Amino acid sequence: TERTYIMVKPDGVERGLVGEIIKRFENKGYQLLALQMIKPTKELLEEHYTDLKEKPFFPGLIKYMSAGPVVGMVWIGKDIVKVGRRLLGETNPLASNPGTIRGDFGIDVGRNLCHGSDSPDNAEREISLWFPNGVVQWDPTENNMTQKDLVEVVATF
Ligand code: GTP
Ligand code: MG
Repeated sequence: TERTYIMVKPDGVERGLVGEIIKRFENKGYQLLALQMIKPTKELLEEHYTDLKEKPFFPGLIKYMSAGPVVGMVWIGKDIVKVGRRLLGETNPLASNPGTIRGDFGIDVGRNLCHGSDSPDNAEREISLWFPNGVVQWDPTENNMTQKDLVEVVATF
């Protein structure tokens, strides 16, 4: 299995789309490993987007991304890097199909709501960058914490 770094950008946070974005990954069947809300420094963002340093939109991108808090997540599951980007949609919301996050909620490439790693190597690089203290490992089935089990436990009293 594979991990990816997904981030709700400042516009997504401001518009109250954190829950919606998490829900789409949960509904798809992926497992959440880490979650944090932080106001990133420009230095962290410049490192995150280091491949784009020469692009004309880079200063604007850093300004946009440092405008407010972001919600960063690590998700794990089969083919999650590629499938995660399919859930997000295309970089430009104009090209994003309805049913994707950017296709459903965005209209501007400079306000495209969310980030997803573009390769497994970049995913691991971004996870180390945003979660330098590491992330948890857990088995979502280990405790059998379903409502049905709880009822049975209660019923034994
Ligand atoms: P991320 O998941 O955020 O990395 O997006 P991406 O992988 O789909 O696109 P890319 O890494 O090429 O660009 C990173 C971000 O820069 C995009 O998500 C946009 O927010 C922004 N960006 C990319 N291209 C443009 C552009 O042509 N104009 C503007 N204003 N912003 C752009
Ligand atoms: Mg990218």
